[in-house]
Amino acid sequence: MTYPIVDGARVLLNFERNTESWPLASYESRHGYVTAKEALGGKYTPEALLEEVKQSGLRGRGGAGFPTGLKWSFLPRDPEGPITLVVNADESEPGTFKDRVVMEENPHQLIEGCVLSCYAMGSNNCYIYIRGEYVGCLKRMHAAVEEAYAAGHLGKNLYGSGFDCDITVHSGAGAYICGEETGLIESLEGKKGQPRIKPPFPAVYGVYGYPTIVNNVESIASVVYIADQGAGATVDRTGYRRWGTEKSAGTKLFSVSGPVKRPGVYEVPMGYPFADLLNKECGGMLDGIALKALIVGGSSVPVVDADTAMQITMDYESCQEHGTLLGSGGVIVIGEGTCMVRALWVLLRFYHHESCGQCTPCREGTGWIERIVHRIEHGHASPNDIDELYRIADGMELRTICTLADAAAWPTKSFIDVFRSEFEEHIDKGCCPYDNQFPDPLNLRGGGVPQRHDDPEHVFVP
Ligand SMILES: Cc1cc2nc3c(=O)[nH]c(=O)nc-3n(C[C@H](O)[C@H](O)[C@H](O)COP(=O)(O)O)c2cc1C
Ligand code: SF4
Repeated sequence: MTYPIVDGARVLLNFERNTESWPLASYESRHGYVTAKEALGGKYTPEALLEEVKQSGLRGRGGAGFPTGLKWSFLPRDPEGPITLVVNADESEPGTFKDRVVMEENPHQLIEGCVLSCYAMGSNNCYIYIRGEYVGCLKRMHAAVEEAYAAGHLGKNLYGSGFDCDITVHSGAGAYICGEETGLIESLEGKKGQPRIKPPFPAVYGVYGYPTIVNNVESIASVVYIADQGAGATVDRTGYRRWGTEKSAGTKLFSVSGPVKRPGVYEVPMGYPFADLLNKECGGMLDGIALKALIVGGSSVPVVDADTAMQITMDYESCQEHGTLLGSGGVIVIGEGTCMVRALWVLLRFYHHESCGQCTPCREGTGWIERIVHRIEHGHASPNDIDELYRIADGMELRTICTLADAAAWPTKSFIDVFRSEFEEHIDKGCCPYDNQFPDPLNLRGGGVPQRHDDPEHVFVP
């Protein structure tokens, strides 16, 4: 099977999808490691490569969309200790499962991206921090790193350039908060995964107190294409800017789940209409189900109704104009017949469970709003509970060490803004007017990713 090629957009899923897509031989047969060899062989100085990434307009694919090259340029010029690159492969946001495809099916592109990124930022040392439940990814990344060392694509004096690059694959233990970059760094250092107060930012004070850049899997894997084809320009559609818009350049992976005919991971140019993603790539809604709502960028972003969803194009600006965020690209399609109160309860149960507990508005607030939504869903609420819920969510925003509290508050407010009448109906009737469509969140584990420990193909042996 081949991934659908949307408008020729092939930066990350540029291969025949089969069980043999991941080994080194397969990667080398599709131009693999040629870019790193050329870059280190004189095509780019580190400064020139950093500038190319800046010019490409690549924005971080982990959720915030911060410009990647700009982040790298915050590193001190003459650091007193080593610079570290950390690849964030924690991918725990409910609805997001795109990094998993890169790691399981195209792991060498991520490794080549690490080599190029380390070269550009003056680092010789990279960690790939992988979500604990991603046993298949761990297995693949370990095998691919081993192959890369054996073939001379990692290690000392790469391609005779004098540049050294080492990668360590590290497994998380299954906490959502370890996806937050400073929580991840704490965890990597062997401590409890609790985010640090910023500033100082990791570029100044990161792993073991040394300058560190944390980037998402998709961001780093995209660097290979940028180094190979150049940043290019949006006006004449060249290089990486061949795709996307001026402010949202390149392509993006979207993981689509929900009642659609072909759920999965799709690579599309930024600016691609959601309507086309739904109806062309995903084959439309499952028979007999109408679109009710959309969470476009993973569970943390505001929900929109069906009419708004059909006007969205998949880029940062359009999402913002329509009252939501592109986030990590976890597209959750919600069908007619779904109880939005129960859907919100499922999400809030997750955030309450995953709060690290350092900040009162988050530790107490996530539990408080979860209990109110539980009350509404089960018909025990009073009419003023809706406004109370909104007020508490509002009070959680922008008052905490990291944005987990906001990630619970934003969906809460938007579910009320867009579907208030459903909350009122629950209270008026004293019960849920829907058949329950979602499983009991108390029985959910992780971010809703199927547990694969029982699959012998995915048993990881270090
Ligand atoms: C609670 C929380 C969870 C996060 N989880 C992830 C994650 O799983 N993967 C990821 O890349 N970024 C995650 N982030 C964002 C990271 O903190 C960081 O911004 C990102 O890794 C930077 O990479 P990028 O610039 O390439 O996007 C999370 C942030 C928060 C607040
Ligand atoms: S906002 Fe929540 S998860 Fe983030 S540091 Fe505070 S308590 Fe921990």
